[in-house]
This record gives sequence, C-alpha cells and structure tokens, in this order.
Amino acid sequence: MWQLTTSLLGFLAHRAFAHGGALNYTVGDTWYPGWDINGGSDQIDAPWLVQRSWTDTNPIFETTNASLACNTPGAPAKAYIPIRAGSNLTAVYGPWVHTVGPMLVWLASCGSDCRTVEPDKLQWFKIAEEGLLYGTVTEGEWFQRAFVRWDGGMSLWSERIPEGLRAGKYLVRHEIISLHSENKPQFYPECANLEVEGSGDSYPSGEYMAKIPGVWSMDQPEININIYTPENMNRTTYKIPGPPVWRG
Ligand SMILES: *[C@@H]1O[C@H](CO)[C@@H](O)[C@H](O)[C@H]1NC(C)=O
Ligand SMILES: *[C@@H]1O[C@H](CO)[C@@H](O)[C@H](O)[C@H]1NC(C)=O
Ligand SMILES: *[C@@H]1O[C@H](CO)[C@@H](O)[C@H](O)[C@H]1NC(C)=O
Ligand SMILES: *[C@@H]1O[C@H](CO)[C@@H](O)[C@H](O)[C@H]1NC(C)=O
Repeated sequence: MWQLTTSLLGFLAHRAFAHGGALNYTVGDTWYPGWDINGGSDQIDAPWLVQRSWTDTNPIFETTNASLACNTPGAPAKAYIPIRAGSNLTAVYGPWVHTVGPMLVWLASCGSDCRTVEPDKLQWFKIAEEGLLYGTVTEGEWFQRAFVRWDGGMSLWSERIPEGLRAGKYLVRHEIISLHSENKPQFYPECANLEVEGSGDSYPSGEYMAKIPGVWSMDQPEININIYTPENMNRTTYKIPGPPVWRG
C-alpha cells in the first residue's frame, strides 16, 4: 500500500510543481541580477551579468552530466560580484517548491579570469551545506522545506564567504538537490562570478576538493534514495555526501 501511495505522491510532486533556480544575488543592499531565462541571448554580453547562463528551470538528472557544474549551457558572464571575505552572499530564488534534500554552496578558484575557465575542470570546495534540521527524512524539517515561502514570495539563501579566504576570482555555485522522486535525484545548480576582497591568505587543501560532475554518484545511498521506504519514514539522520565543508 505504501508503495502505491508514495509513488503517487512522487508523481504528483514531480508533475504539479514548476522548478526554479537562483535568479539574483545580493550583498548587503546591493542587487546583482542573474541570467533571465525569459530574456534574450544578448544578455550574455551585458556588462552587468554576473551569472552563467541557463536555459530552463528544469533539473539535471544525471550525476555524470557536464551541465551539473554550472547548468546548461553555462556560458560565462562578464561581470563579478565584489564581496569582502567574511560577508554574506545571498542568492534570491523565485518561489521554490521542493522540500526534501540538501542545499550546498561551493566555490572554485578561477585564477585570473572566470570567463575562460571550464567549470567541470575546476577544483570545487564546499563553503556551506544545509540538510535535515529535525524530524524524519520523509516528512521532517529540511532546510529546503524551511526555504520554501508558501505565500509565493522570494526565497533568500544567505551564506558567509569564509573570512580567511584569500582574495581572488571565484565561481560560486549554489546547488539544490531535490529528492522527492524515488531514486531520481534532481540537481539545480547555478554559478556566478565573485571577486573576493580581503587580506586573508587561507585556501583549502586537497581533502576539501571535488570535481563536478564527479562528486555525486548513483552509488551513493544519500543521492540514489527512495525517501518513501518505511526505513526512511523513520530515519532522523541524513549525512550529506562529498568532502567536508571548508569554513576558512
Ligand atoms: C544534461 O542535462 C541537460 C539538462 O537537463 C539535458 O538537456 C542534457 O540532455 C543532459 N545531457 C546528458 C548527456 O545527459
Ligand atoms: C531578479 O531580478 C530581476 C531584474 O532586476 C527582477 O526582474 C526579478 O523580479 C528578480 N527576481 C527575484 C526572484 O528576485
Ligand atoms: C550570514 O550567513 C550565515 C550563514 O553562513 C547566517 O547564519 C547569518 O544569519 C547570515 N547573516 C545575515 C545578516 O544574513
Ligand atoms: C518505524 O517506527 C515505528 C514506530 O516506532 C515502528 O513500529 C516500525 O517498526 C518502524 N519501521 C521500520 C521499518 O523501522
């Protein structure tokens, strides 16, 4: 019985909801508009665009898809968000509707120019990850559930850029992983250019690094998961896979 019910739930969750992504960014009171999926292709040359391009709000399903790095097509933007190490970057989402699964923020050093790097070749490190806050895997309070604004308003996601991080050009990658469809994880990544300022000289070592794609796999039980099994309906822990978070 549970199988029938939960399959139906998964189906409805999959069908009935529109998806989304990070649309804009803020640092303090300053707004940085991201790629407008309804706007024209000329945005890519705009002197204000900070975000890599993405063509629709649907998720990526394959853990090996090169688009997992910075979405599809992920063409590079020209502008950078200036931010001091130790301050918060906020990603602004339109109405977000999925409720189960982890959310992560990653950085990768670009060297001298984020426009010339291929994001699937970079070394990425986590600066934040948010998972199950309390309750069960199936119905508990995930950070992602708390992120949803049921009134249809914007969802805001703030994380601190590690204070000790050495200055430089970085790609920042916001990733939401939604796990409501049985054994069919949905990945929602968007990337933007950051110009980090500050006097820190820290940088994470190799144990913090991952390739994207590469970090996720259908061999990971936390990624290839059916949240509607009796075990998961009782389970109150969820360990986010991948390298540890680097906090500077
Ligand atoms: C990668 O994901 C995009 C977006 O969902 C899709 O259009 C494309 O076909 C996928 N590529 C592969 C190789 O699966
Ligand atoms: C993002 O910014 C654009 C352009 O400033 C604006 O039209 C849109 O309403 C913003 N969306 C959100 C969710 O903040
Ligand atoms: C800054 O981000 C941290 C999480 O890294 C959060 O705890 C804190 O509330 C944020 N501060 C503001 C002013 O948004
Ligand atoms: C789930 O928890 C209930 C209540 O504690 C228990 O009766 C049931 O056996 C558990 N099921 C599994 C699969 O652990």
